[in-house]
Amino acid sequence: MSDPETTPGTAAHQKIDSSVPHSARIWNYWLGGKDNYPVDEEAGDAYTAVFPGIVTIARSSRAFLRRTITYLVTEAGIRQFLDIGTGLPTADNTHEVAQRLAPESRIVYVDNDPMVLAHARALLYSTPEGATAYVDSNVLTPERVLEAAARTLDFSRPTALILSNILGHIADHDEARSVVTRLMDALPSGSHLSVNDGSRGIDPGFEQAQDGYNESGAVPYNLRTVDEITSFFDGLELLEPGVVPVTRWRPDADAADAPVIAEHGGLARKP
Ligand SMILES: C[S@@+](CC[C@H](N)C(=O)[O-])C[C@H]1O[C@@H](n2cnc3c(N)ncnc32)[C@H](O)[C@@H]1O
Repeated sequence: MSDPETTPGTAAHQKIDSSVPHSARIWNYWLGGKDNYPVDEEAGDAYTAVFPGIVTIARSSRAFLRRTITYLVTEAGIRQFLDIGTGLPTADNTHEVAQRLAPESRIVYVDNDPMVLAHARALLYSTPEGATAYVDSNVLTPERVLEAAARTLDFSRPTALILSNILGHIADHDEARSVVTRLMDALPSGSHLSVNDGSRGIDPGFEQAQDGYNESGAVPYNLRTVDEITSFFDGLELLEPGVVPVTRWRPDADAADAPVIAEHGGLARKP
C-alpha cells in the first residue's frame, strides 16, 4: 500500500527548504514562472552564466511534451497518462494538452517535491468527462507509484508513461533502466513511453554548468549520452524519427530549421 506518511523520499517526509536550490523550482524559474525562491534564482542565474542554452532546453522540453501528447491522443488513441516528475504547474501541462483534444483523458501526476505537492491543486482542474490525480510518491519505488496510480488509471488499457527530465535524478544508469522497465512491464500492449532528458557529449558548456550545479547542494542531475537515453526504449518500438534533439522530434511546420540542442527525446510503443 502506498502511504506517503511512511514512505521516505516523498514530499510528506520533507519540508519546503528555501535555503537550498531545488530542481523543480529552478526549472520553473527557467520556464519564466514565479514559484521559486531567491536561492533558486541565484542557482539558475549561476547556471545560465555558464550555459545560457539551458533556458532553450527547458522551453523546448515543454514543446516536445506538447507535441508527443498531441500525437498520443490524436494518432495513437491514448486516453490515459502517467506523468512522473511532473514539476511545478506551468503552461500546457499534460492534462491540459490531452483533455483539450480528448476531454475524457485521465491523467495521474507523480512527484516527490513538497513545493510541487503544495501547488498540485492547479494540476487537478479536470474536465468533467476525464480525471486528474496527483500522487506524492518516489519514482525509485515504481510498484508504489503504480499502485497509487491504479486508483485513477485502468492498467488493462493502453497508457502513456511520461518521463520528462526526471531520469537524470537517478544517478545509476542500471537503476534508471530498471525503474523504466518495471513501470512499462505493468502496462499493456499499445502503451507508450515518452522520455526526454539532458544529453552528454553534445555541448561542453552544458556539462560544465551541470557539474557546478551538482556541487551547489541541489539534488544532482546526471546527463546521459544519446546511447544511454536510447537504451530506455529497449524492447519497445521506437517511433520515427527515433531519439533526436527534442527540437527535431516532429517539429511544428513553422520550425523548419530547429537547432540541435543537448536535450534528446523519443517516443516508443509497447508491442
Ligand atoms: C527538471 S524537473 C522536470 C519537470 C517536468 N517534467 C518538465 O520536463 O518540464 C524534475 C522533476 O522531477 C521531480 N523528481 C526528482 N526526483 C524525483 C523522484 N525520485 N521521484 C519523483 N519525482 C522526482 C522533481 O521534484 C521535479 O519536479
